[in-house]
Amino acid sequence: MLKGKKILLGITGSIAAYKSAVLLRLLIKSGAEVKVIMTPSALQFIAPLTLSTLSRNEVLSELVDNDSWANHVMLGRWADVMLIAPLSCNSLSKMAQGTCDNLLTAVYLSATCPVVVAPAMDEDMWLHSSTKENIKKITSYGNAIIPVETGELASGLHGPGRMAEPENIVAWLNDFFKEKKQLTGKKILITAGPTHEAIDPVRFIGNHSSGKMGIALAEECIKRGAIVTLVAGPISESIPSELNLIKVTSAAQMYDACLKEFSTTNIAILSAAVADYTIAAPSASKIKKQEGELVLSLEKTKDILKELGVHKKPSQFLVGFALETDNETENAINKLRDKKADMIVLNSLKDTGAGFGSSNNKITIFDKEGGEFAFDIKSKKLVAADIIDYVIKLSHV
Ligand code: CTP
Repeated sequence: MLKGKKILLGITGSIAAYKSAVLLRLLIKSGAEVKVIMTPSALQFIAPLTLSTLSRNEVLSELVDNDSWANHVMLGRWADVMLIAPLSCNSLSKMAQGTCDNLLTAVYLSATCPVVVAPAMDEDMWLHSSTKENIKKITSYGNAIIPVETGELASGLHGPGRMAEPENIVAWLNDFFKEKKQLTGKKILITAGPTHEAIDPVRFIGNHSSGKMGIALAEECIKRGAIVTLVAGPISESIPSELNLIKVTSAAQMYDACLKEFSTTNIAILSAAVADYTIAAPSASKIKKQEGELVLSLEKTKDILKELGVHKKPSQFLVGFALETDNETENAINKLRDKKADMIVLNSLKDTGAGFGSSNNKITIFDKEGGEFAFDIKSKKLVAADIIDYVIKLSHV
């Protein structure tokens, strides 16, 4: 599983750093390509010469070395994963605070690849409330933690805090790549379901969207290690508990929730069937039956996808859906362009057995590079996997 994988091994100042040599050897033996970064204090625990010999790569520890600048941004982009093992209490605290005072912390802060850490410290430090708080913080930033092990510690005490054994770290990484955890640490915003636009306290305008596609996308992203926020309209499907759920009713509420979340989002996938029109003046009390016609005046809702397209930074990736009955390709391409999305997923209502309410879907993806790819009819679960594979390929996350 590790063959050909590019691993950035960060080593911090901990007695467990001596085990990094064994870990590095195992990674190289598994076929991985490894580059090593050490903090200045790690240099006191293990010689860079040992690590450069094992990795067959120069060991980096300085931001500026002999008048040359180590390109920390490109290191984080080169790697498939950044593994910090051992992670000392001090470096953990820097990661939690966003401190950037050496090459390793600079690479960490600019890394676009998933970051995995194997903490190592004495029992009392490991159990300290500030350490627990810092672990919680870096987890919330999307970093993955390889659990500490219990055993003999450098202090001579016995307890939790030992760095996971190198064999266990390699096994953890194998699972990580096997389960395609490519989205570890990525924040994903997904919209799902219909919106309901109130006519009066008991009636609304809605549509037949079940939210199944959005939930399947959320499940797929969670499976791949992402931190998911689901903004869901009124749906009765069960929603996974491992996500941040924001329940909304109307298009206006969905708009507000999405705009609030978007600035910290890496990838946004808007699969909701948002109402294009809302009631101009909903009645505060139930509208009574009357003679003759009842005319409801509608006004346009704000287009969430279009608005996110306006705010989108180059590092963010935006996916929209297009539900069409006629001129599907032309309409989908127009939506891609008009809403400044990176990718549009087209569902055609002409495909029988697919779409609204059904467990299956048939999609064609159009991307901003001009790519077009039609998929076979499949379960929404498999369609979600196809969409996420496409997003990963195109967004280079
Ligand atoms: N969308 C949105 N906000 C709206 C309307 C649509 O974010 N107020 C998003 C949908 O979630 C979807 C995409 O825009 O990702 C396209 O939605 P669709 O209903 O197919 O198209 P519309 O832009 O609403 O245009 P039309 O209904 O005329 O086809």
